[in-house]
Amino acid sequence: MDLKQYVTIVPDWPKEGIVFKDITTLMDNGEAYKFATDEIVKYAQEKEIDLVVGPEARGFIIGCPVAYALGVGFAPVRKPGKLPRETIQVEYGLEYGKDALTIHKDAIKPGQRVLITDDLLATGGTIEATIKLVEQLGGVVAGIAFLIELSYLEGRKKLDGYDILTLMEY
Ligand code: PRP
Ligand code: ADE
Repeated sequence: MDLKQYVTIVPDWPKEGIVFKDITTLMDNGEAYKFATDEIVKYAQEKEIDLVVGPEARGFIIGCPVAYALGVGFAPVRKPGKLPRETIQVEYGLEYGKDALTIHKDAIKPGQRVLITDDLLATGGTIEATIKLVEQLGGVVAGIAFLIELSYLEGRKKLDGYDILTLMEY
């Protein structure tokens, strides 16, 4: 299936010069969303995944159906102040800003094999921070899956040495 036909390109959003890749038009098509999810599930099935981890908000949309299909749990990575119990935190830069991410301290058991999911790899800051959170808790990053890679932003350079799946490239 050609997934790109379901992605809507929105120029100059949320800021001038950013070409936003809107995946809501992929998600609201049942066949396309299922196809994309199944591709990530196939990839994950070869990696003996114990847990899926994804950053808010779009990492949840990709990661939760994958976790369900694999029969494993999902641990959310969230912006500061959103998780109710003890967390660890990492700062990071975005294509259009700066932020921090947190995860519950007890979300991952040491040695667990983790699949990280998100909708899109841009500068790589979000996933680099997510990797740090997973590894600080003793998790092993067994794979990282995205719908979209913006290869012109070279985010992959930050993820050197990790196993990456991307379904679409711009
Ligand atoms: C977007 C996107 C990725 C991240 C990619 O999330 O969903 O998580 O940016 O950019 P990067 O590779 O440069 O880090 P955003 O922070 O906009 O949050 P949202 O999912 O809550 O909209
Ligand atoms: N997150 C970071 N950059 C993005 C882009 N260009 N489109 C959609 N989501 C993004």
